Amino acid sequence: MADKKIIAVVGATGAQGGGLVRAILEDPSGGFAPRAITRDANSDKAKELAKLGAEVVVADVDDADGLKRAFRGAHGAYCVTFYWAHMKPEKEVAEAVLMARAAKDAGLQHVIWSTLEDTRRWVPLSDDRMPTLMAKYKVPHFDAKGESDHVFSDMGVPTTFLLTSFYWDNLIHFGMGPKEGPEGKLAFTLPMADKKLPGIAAEDIGRCAYGVFKRGGDSVGETVGIAGEHLTGAQMAASLTRALGREVRYNAVTPETYRSFGFPGADDLGNMFQFKRDFESVFCGARSLEVSRALNPKLQSFDTWLAANARRIPLD
Ligand SMILES: NC(=O)c1ccc[n+]([C@@H]2O[C@H](COP(=O)([O-])OP(=O)(O)OC[C@H]3O[C@@H](n4cnc5c(N)ncnc54)[C@H](OP(=O)(O)O)[C@@H]3O)[C@@H](O)[C@H]2O)c1
Repeated sequence: MADKKIIAVVGATGAQGGGLVRAILEDPSGGFAPRAITRDANSDKAKELAKLGAEVVVADVDDADGLKRAFRGAHGAYCVTFYWAHMKPEKEVAEAVLMARAAKDAGLQHVIWSTLEDTRRWVPLSDDRMPTLMAKYKVPHFDAKGESDHVFSDMGVPTTFLLTSFYWDNLIHFGMGPKEGPEGKLAFTLPMADKKLPGIAAEDIGRCAYGVFKRGGDSVGETVGIAGEHLTGAQMAASLTRALGREVRYNAVTPETYRSFGFPGADDLGNMFQFKRDFESVFCGARSLEVSRALNPKLQSFDTWLAANARRIPLD
């Protein structure tokens, strides 16, 4: 362990960070060791990571000193924020500042910042094709991350900016899977018209991030976009039909309809999908499948992911 480069992983018990911790541990001769950061070392997920061989360290991203201690002695860090835990974009911005400061303080040589586009670069607040949310955002959970990119660069932290994609796991955990209509038919609802949605198995994000750490200094200062596939709603419905053995119809609603669904964050997600629909070439163009495959040779397609996970998708 002493001769290995330690990667401190924020969100280690979660989707992105967990994938990274496991990817590092699956490659014992790779020269890296994971330090899993959690707020609770006694949780089942934290204990599981320790059992797999990860160093587990307790810190909260909102605690500057704890974060500095957690980053100390590491070679690199994976930095991610947790929008859906609080739905406050300003909190994400503040946490990015604390993580960048801790990285600078620890003299880290390579940081990955898990980011997304600041959509206001393409859809300024004055553009009323989609509503402005929380007074100063179009897609709050995207904009706050993109707005924070400069924080890492301004502090001189050697950073790779990782543009992630829609997790296919949202079909399991986020209520976005096909739903049975009144006649018992399954419908998969997305406000994407006939445009392609870059998607990825959440586990593959960490594997791609590991590929970025292995590439090392070459990728510092770069923005790297990752996706497993770019698929239309109709293509996803066809894959779901095959995997579930039941017909799934693509229900292409408008972003206005999606925003009106009323669940917490429906307006944010409605704007997000509208951005992905209206700027398909920009959004897909920023997420190269070849680059993702080169970083992560195990990269899954939607069909591969479904073969392992379709039975976990709730249909009611
Ligand atoms: N869903 C999608 O399709 C998608 C796509 C792209 C990007 N994203 C972004 O992904 C981000 C979330 O990443 P994720 O999905 O990997 O998260 P996740 O699976 O929800 O896990 C987050 C983990 O972070 C830890 N955590 C939460 N608050 C913390 C805090 N204050 N300090 C330290 N650790 C904390 C928790 O671990 P402990 O309880 O062990 O501390 C939790 O297990 C969001 O910002 C979202 O916008 C999501």
